[in-house]
Amino acid sequence: MADYRIREYRDEDYEMVRELFATGMSEYVPALCVHVLKQPWVILVLACTFCILLTSSKSLLLPILAITLLLATGRQLLGYFWTMYIEHCLKEDLLDIRTTYMGSKGSCFWVAEADECVVGTVAARPSDDQEGELMLKRMSVRKDYRGLGVAKALCQAVICFAQQQGCRAVVLNTLMVQDEARLMYERVGFAKYRDDVLPTVYGRLANVTISKYRYSVPRRS
Ligand SMILES: CC(C)(COP(=O)(O)OP(=O)(O)OC[C@H]1O[C@@H](n2cnc3c(N)ncnc32)[C@H](O)[C@@H]1OP(=O)(O)O)[C@@H](O)C(=O)NCCC(=O)NCCS
Repeated sequence: MADYRIREYRDEDYEMVRELFATGMSEYVPALCVHVLKQPWVILVLACTFCILLTSSKSLLLPILAITLLLATGRQLLGYFWTMYIEHCLKEDLLDIRTTYMGSKGSCFWVAEADECVVGTVAARPSDDQEGELMLKRMSVRKDYRGLGVAKALCQAVICFAQQQGCRAVVLNTLMVQDEARLMYERVGFAKYRDDVLPTVYGRLANVTISKYRYSVPRRS
């Protein structure tokens, strides 16, 4: 078992927390690309482009080049939009972590610390949807500390906090591409209760599904 401890956020963690969040999220670009490539309309567009260029040019080179160019442009565009999303989060609750999470009784931010570095993060704040529910956010574990139970320990910190606050449940959102995170939450005891397609043009086009998970907090005896 690696030597790490879970503790509350301190101001000196600021840069490491933001860096860890951004790196963890940017890992999902390849998985997002594969997801988009599997959408029927994308396959249809690629197949039609290939066939039209093949029949009009009577050469294999042009359609292959065109498809390669389309795929490369798509990869760049997805990477760009994903980076924008990460930037948005960094300018939202992660801009002033102390005020957002440490300034009120119902919120908190924890880090996993090892060798004087932040190797994991998680946050909790009251859910916007349901009173009495706590929202788990910003879960991320540094790559070289994965598979050691750090995320499970961070989840336990949130569940314990929810119990102390008298919350009846901890809820969270994950994207369809975050397979490791889903497995980890299910292992901890979270259960999926809803799937929603992101209600934006891009969300519908790419069939971006947000899964909502809930953990029922046992009452304190
Ligand atoms: C998801 C993530 C937080 C998991 O962190 P972790 O510290 O490696 O997870 P743990 O070691 O606590 O694993 C807990 C359980 O999750 C499951 N799990 C975790 N990673 C897994 C993987 N890559 N494959 C299969 N199962 C996995 C295992 O069942 C494990 O339980 P077990 O060891 O008792 O079998 C980490 O991979 C990460 O930071 N990913 C990038 C950011 C991210 O996706 N955040 C979540 C946003 S919703």
